[in-house]
Amino acid sequence: MALRRLAGNLVSAVRPLSCLQLARNYRAAVLTEFGRPLQVQDLEPKALAPDEVRVAVYNCGVNASDILTCQGVYENLPNLPFVPGFEFSGEVLEVGSEVTAVQKGGRVIGLQSSGSGGFAEQIVTTAADLFPVDNSLEFEAGAALADTYATALLGLQRRAALQKGDTVMVTAAAGGLGLAAVDLAANVFKCQVIAVCGTEDKASLVREKGAFAALGFHREHLKKKVRDVTGLKGIKVIFDAVGGEVFEEAIKCVAHEGKVIVAGFASRTVPHVATSSLLPRSFSLIGLSLRHYREADNAVFRQAVLDSIELYESGLIAPHISAQYPLEQVNEALSFISERKSTGKVLLDIR
Ligand SMILES: NC(=O)c1ccc[n+]([C@@H]2O[C@H](COP(=O)([O-])OP(=O)(O)OC[C@H]3O[C@@H](n4cnc5c(N)ncnc54)[C@H](OP(=O)(O)O)[C@@H]3O)[C@@H](O)[C@H]2O)c1
Repeated sequence: MALRRLAGNLVSAVRPLSCLQLARNYRAAVLTEFGRPLQVQDLEPKALAPDEVRVAVYNCGVNASDILTCQGVYENLPNLPFVPGFEFSGEVLEVGSEVTAVQKGGRVIGLQSSGSGGFAEQIVTTAADLFPVDNSLEFEAGAALADTYATALLGLQRRAALQKGDTVMVTAAAGGLGLAAVDLAANVFKCQVIAVCGTEDKASLVREKGAFAALGFHREHLKKKVRDVTGLKGIKVIFDAVGGEVFEEAIKCVAHEGKVIVAGFASRTVPHVATSSLLPRSFSLIGLSLRHYREADNAVFRQAVLDSIELYESGLIAPHISAQYPLEQVNEALSFISERKSTGKVLLDIR
């Protein structure tokens, strides 16, 4: 009897504590005005809806689209105040009453599709935006894999049908997306990768990742340099996330029946191509957007992320992380990328 009372007291002592834990304010980097620095603020947690999940964020990827959103120049700008950060890893803190796909305490990778993001100690999301992973998968890798590798995988495998031994040119090859494309093309598809990047340090990195040639970008010489290193008339698949004049020069290197993947515009210049220029070499231009795959074909989107996780777990690919910043230095993290100092991924370390 006394034991039962003691047990009852313990349960009632524990319950209010865990509620208190969830009710405790959490820190988040908040965008209050487009074009202004983020501010780290204390926010109050909201109660979960039945289909929602609360995740303790341990690492969050800092991506080009976060920068564009903060600057107010991205598609579908959010209402302010807003917490950016759509790519994160962490542990499930709490699940809504209808959620069965993830459990409290489980380790997850997340790609937030809408609402407040992961530049924060906590994020509220839905199971549809989460990917449960083994406890052996490091949080850092978890926040550095999904966006870039799933995008590159969709582009190279599904859209360009890359084959072993093909020649592949990757521009912005030391950036987050480019390095994932180099890694996949060289180490998974066993292709001959020619990387284009900005500095000698970046060239060393992409060679280490598996590129057999790393070229600096020079407007007049790209085509000749490619011919010099490959001895070939053209490149089978070109993966471009720069746009602008880099794209214009890169497509001059495409082979007969080659494919050019249009994955992004790091230069912020959208090139315009005369369709007549596609005819002499019968080449294809291929658009690619992971974000839009998520809406248009969710099964393909989820499979690309799951495949990326599996490739990582089997040791075939390895995301490169050039810097990690604490939440308080989130603005430094954004500048590090904007100033083209980063290679591969940049993360926030929020633990
Ligand atoms: N299609 C999709 O689903 C998808 C997914 C992820 C990202 N993206 C897009 O892909 C692009 C690259 O993303 P990311 O994550 O790889 O970015 P990132 O890590 O910042 O890398 C971009 C790289 O672009 C190169 N670059 C060349 N010309 C540039 C210029 N004029 N201004 C700035 N950078 C220039 C830089 O490398 P060098 O200094 O070596 O030239 C830079 O490191 C972005 O536009 C992003 O929005 C698209």
